[in-house]
Formats: sequence, C-alpha cells, structure tokens
Amino acid sequence: MEIVIGDITEQRVDVIVTAANESLLGGGGVDGAIHRAAGPRLAQAGAALAPLDPGLAVATPAFDLEPQVRHVIHTVGPVWEGGDYGEADILASCYRQSLALADELGATSIAFPAIATGVYGYPAAQAARIAVETLRSATTSVGRIVLVAYDEDAAGELGEWLSTGAGNGAAEA
Ligand code: APR
Repeated sequence: MEIVIGDITEQRVDVIVTAANESLLGGGGVDGAIHRAAGPRLAQAGAALAPLDPGLAVATPAFDLEPQVRHVIHTVGPVWEGGDYGEADILASCYRQSLALADELGATSIAFPAIATGVYGYPAAQAARIAVETLRSATTSVGRIVLVAYDEDAAGELGEWLSTGAGNGAAEA
C-alpha cells in the first residue's frame, strides 16, 4: 500500500475508485474530476446502476480516463453525522467492497481517494485510520493499492496509520 499526493485521474492503475453519491451521475470534488476526465459516458453508465446505497460499490468502464485504467468503481461514502450513526462501518464497507470488486475484475492495481472526507464531512484522521486498517486486513490479489491524498495534510493523516503496520494484505507471492 502506498500514499501518493496528487490527482487521482492521473494515476496509472487498472481501477480508479470514485467517492460518488447515490445517483452515480457525478458531482463535485473527486467525483467531478473523475467524471470530467472519463467523459459523459461515465454518468450514463452510472445512471444505469443507480441508486447505490452507502457502503456498496459498482464498476463501470473508465471510458476516456488514462488508457491503462480499465474500470471506475463507484462507491458511496457515509455523510458524517457525528459518528453515532454507523458511519465508520459504512466507510469501512466502501473500502472493503471496492477492493473485493477490483479482485473480481482481476485488477492488479487500484487507486482510492479519501472517501467521505470532503463534502460528506468525515474527519480526515478517523477516515484515514479506517481506510488503512480495512485495506490492510483484506485478503486480496490486487498487488498495488494506492491511497491518493489531494494535499499534504491528507497525506499526513494516511501516513500516521500506514507506518504502524506491515503490508497491504496482498496474497503472498
Ligand atoms: N484527486 C484526488 N482526490 C481528490 C480530488 C482529485 N482530483 N479532488 C478532490 N479530492 C479529495 C478531497 O480533497 C477529499 O479529501 O477527495 C476527498 C473526498 O472528497 P469529495 O470529493 O468531496 O467526496 P465525499 O466527501 O465522499 O463527498 C461525496 O461529493 O462530489 C460529490 O458526487 C459527490 O455527492 C458526492 C459527494
């Protein structure tokens, strides 16, 4: 598992995960960036699979994204309401379901944004811990997991957790 500071639409991976809303039509933030890069067909493909409940994940083609990117996995994070409404479980499910779906698709690499930490208001430190711990504990054949932070602060939060343990749970070679 590795942390990268930058734009997720520029990552050269098989699968890019977007922090979507239930309509899968795109929006602002990272979802908006991915939809702009993938083109209007992404929203058309998403609409055919919507509505998507929080915590679940679905895949579509990546259309006009970097040629190497084969799929976009859409997942809907929890809106932060203070922490007593199951937000942590929903966020963990976003990471778990997205990685499991990437496995099913035969992906060898995947890039995640910091799901729910923008418009949805999830506290970055708590979200970073959930992301790293969920992905680390998963058994997966996806050899390369990239956590894309959009800024230094976000990268710092992820780094706090990544340095406390080993590997990304990829199947032993
Ligand atoms: N690349 C990587 N990360 C990005 C990018 C980008 N191009 N743009 C934004 N981010 C980061 C933000 O800085 C934030 O840390 O993605 C994280 C998630 O923030 P949001 O995109 O706001 O997603 P979220 O909080 O899950 O809210 C989802 O916002 O865009 C709408 O349609 C989306 O309704 C949904 C809601």
